[in-house]
Amino acid sequence: MDNVKTLLGEGRIPHAWYNLVPDLPFSLPAPIHPATGKPISPDDLRPIFPLSLIKQEMSGERWIEIPDKVRQIYRLWRPTPLRRARRLEKYLKTKVRIYYKDESVSPTGSHKTNTAIAQAYYNKEAGIKRLATETGAGQWGAALSFACNVFSLGCRVYMVKVSFHQKPFRKSMMRIWGSEIIASPSNTTESGRKILKEEPDCQGSLGIAISEAVEEAAKNKETNYSLGSVLNHVLLHQTVIGLETKEQLKILKEAPDYLIACVGGGSNFGGLVLPFVKDKLKKPGMRIIAVEPSACPSLTKGIYEYDFGDTASLTPLLKMFTLGHKFMPAGIHAGGLRYHGCSPLVSALHDKKIIEAYAFQQLEVFEAAVLFAQTEGIIPAPESAHAIKVAIDIAKKEKKSKCLVFNLSGHGFLDLASYDKFLDRELVNYAHPTEAIKEALKDLPKV
Ligand SMILES: Cc1ncc(COP(=O)(O)O)c(C=O)c1O
Repeated sequence: MDNVKTLLGEGRIPHAWYNLVPDLPFSLPAPIHPATGKPISPDDLRPIFPLSLIKQEMSGERWIEIPDKVRQIYRLWRPTPLRRARRLEKYLKTKVRIYYKDESVSPTGSHKTNTAIAQAYYNKEAGIKRLATETGAGQWGAALSFACNVFSLGCRVYMVKVSFHQKPFRKSMMRIWGSEIIASPSNTTESGRKILKEEPDCQGSLGIAISEAVEEAAKNKETNYSLGSVLNHVLLHQTVIGLETKEQLKILKEAPDYLIACVGGGSNFGGLVLPFVKDKLKKPGMRIIAVEPSACPSLTKGIYEYDFGDTASLTPLLKMFTLGHKFMPAGIHAGGLRYHGCSPLVSALHDKKIIEAYAFQQLEVFEAAVLFAQTEGIIPAPESAHAIKVAIDIAKKEKKSKCLVFNLSGHGFLDLASYDKFLDRELVNYAHPTEAIKEALKDLPKV
């Protein structure tokens, strides 16, 4: 029998996260303090993050040990399976061997739990009582709620208003794990009140929700802020995905010709690919591909500049591909891919052409998702379906026998309303207009 799953025992959960920074052939542009125009210092971040995470954010160490308590919790679902999509391959009549790392098996249904557990752990160790965060589709909010519950921390989640109404069951998950959920923009914070005054019907954005959560953390000593993507320490925690994948491919005597993942803020993409970047530098033929929606095309249509991470300009300036921090996304159904910027690490890899990026419309993405569900049986998150779309396209075009790995970042069990809309032909394509991008980029800060 040809195997479908490659499994690792619990003892093979990585003991350390991998930090790509010391292995980069260039230095990463430092985050800048907007008031001074100078690189930020660890002290600038102290009001919202614990020192342990600030050190990880700025670390030049290649390996960072995973605390035992975090590995213990990882055992609930890690190592995750590497699956071979044999039925999809057969359907496509392809010579490409399609593998996918299945992060949908985590308790909350996505890769986000990998960093949520780590962040909750370090905040608890630092004596923090509560975390404030934002969430788009609700995957991150659910993951952090679970993690805060595990470590007996309070959790307040600012949820982008459009998703707050579109995804009621993600709210239920967060409530089960004891979180408080607030539709953003809200009247709870100054940033929220200011936006509501200007635009009372504002449906929210990740940038606005981040402003609200950061403001709350900065004003409250016992509350810290937690971010589900973008920053170096988040991508660091996600490298368990790529590290396990490497072990699994070794067992299969495989080396990837294609690595593919969707990109919102860049964390599941970084988690899968960062441990392979050194290999790519030695083997230029290997392709590392980021996939984003045409409705929020930060890597493919944004510019590589310093910008704020949030709408109210409260965060440090990050050098990243951005659509401008005032970007207001359309209510597309891959809610986790609606962020205006992208991880500085992923952005730098794109700028140096170490990775490629492509954008797709939501109808073609849902078509790929349904084909995947029909052949492999797993209903993917609409976010993850962006990676599936490219995997299928490559498998159709590629005539040689090649190895392709994509990240199944989450399942779509709570996205069924979007699937219904697709099946009922109510979904429409949407590409963010070039004019709107030009307009939003006018507000970029001067550095
Ligand atoms: C299932 C899933 N995949 C991908 C993403 C995109 O985030 P990131 O780019 O940080 O992986 C999200 C974000 O919410 C998500 O829920």
